[in-house]
Amino acid sequence: MSKKPVRVAVTGAAGQIGYALLFRIASGEMLGKDQPVILQLLEIPDERAQNALKGVIMELEDCAFPLLAGIEAHSNPEEAFKDTDYALLVGARPRGPGMERADLLAANAAIFTVQGKALNKVASRNVKVLVVGNPANTNAYIAMKSAPDLPAKNFTAMLRLDHNRAASQIAAKTGKAVGDIKSLTVWGNHSPTMYADYRFATINGESVKDMINDQVWNAEVFLPTVGKRGAAIIAARGLSSAASAANAAIDHMRDWALGSNGEWVTMGVPSNGEYGIPAGIVFGFPVTTENGEYKIVEGLEIDAFSQECINKTLAELQGEADGVKHLL
Ligand code: NAD
Ligand code: LMR
Repeated sequence: MSKKPVRVAVTGAAGQIGYALLFRIASGEMLGKDQPVILQLLEIPDERAQNALKGVIMELEDCAFPLLAGIEAHSNPEEAFKDTDYALLVGARPRGPGMERADLLAANAAIFTVQGKALNKVASRNVKVLVVGNPANTNAYIAMKSAPDLPAKNFTAMLRLDHNRAASQIAAKTGKAVGDIKSLTVWGNHSPTMYADYRFATINGESVKDMINDQVWNAEVFLPTVGKRGAAIIAARGLSSAASAANAAIDHMRDWALGSNGEWVTMGVPSNGEYGIPAGIVFGFPVTTENGEYKIVEGLEIDAFSQECINKTLAELQGEADGVKHLL
């Protein structure tokens, strides 16, 4: 017998990430090739956005995806999030050339307060929320704080793109296959302050740190390349990353829902005080996932260099949280 459909809400559904994301969700790449889905799509009421959403829906229909059990178009979050099991909060104002992420904070804070409240009111009590829209960690924090009746642990932010970028850089540096890299993580904020950490990573059982053995490359090439990759893509394309962001969103939700088979993945999740990160701050951590739950990998040694990097990205996140305090 086929499974009961689950409800997947996606905001910003007519945007560029939406266009790279929806077809993969509908084809079963996110929740499995046996899991029917109902897409509940949210766009702003603006006529242009709603028309664009109609066009995307026509294309989804034309794919005749066997797993696509329904499609809804909405302009009101309380309708879009009704009974939703998964919510991918993509819709936000993207950063343009020369704009800093911090500039986006005020513009986006209002969106995530409203959407957090709507999730609180109408979503499934087990809803799994992934915030992609920037500044992703702080937007997730705002949504979480605006939804006091839902478990805080169900609000996550996307650090998976940074994780995937770090893996790709390490594969290029070592000449090894990206799929063989294990136990990599990215700590902190989805911003240039993030700390991509390969100290525990292995490739076919061998230590990546020993293989590379070059702290100057780590500090002066690897970290800036991964940290500023989003800006490099904006400078090159004139638009922020979309296909790679959608791919990371699929990876994040798939692993959360279906399990990581004991492997580490990076998720931005509210801290419970792990590694000295104050409780509630939505921080990139190494996690493993099983049975629909994630677990922060604990007990890792944090050396002086790593502590300095973690302190810097934490300070930025605390500054962002301070900046939105009055809205919560
Ligand atoms: P886009 O401008 O192409 O699309 C965003 C869409 O969201 C638009 O169609 C817009 O109408 C819609 N939208 C805006 N406010 C909304 C609201 N309140 N409710 C519903 N829809 C709303 O942008 P994009 O390229 O798809 O990027 C979306 C967001 O993702 C941006 O904030 C971008 O910075 C962020 N992003 C995050 C990561 C990450 O790794 N976390 C990576 C890439 C991009
Ligand atoms: C990215 O990392 O590609 C995005 O977050 C774009 C940005 O605004 O940096």
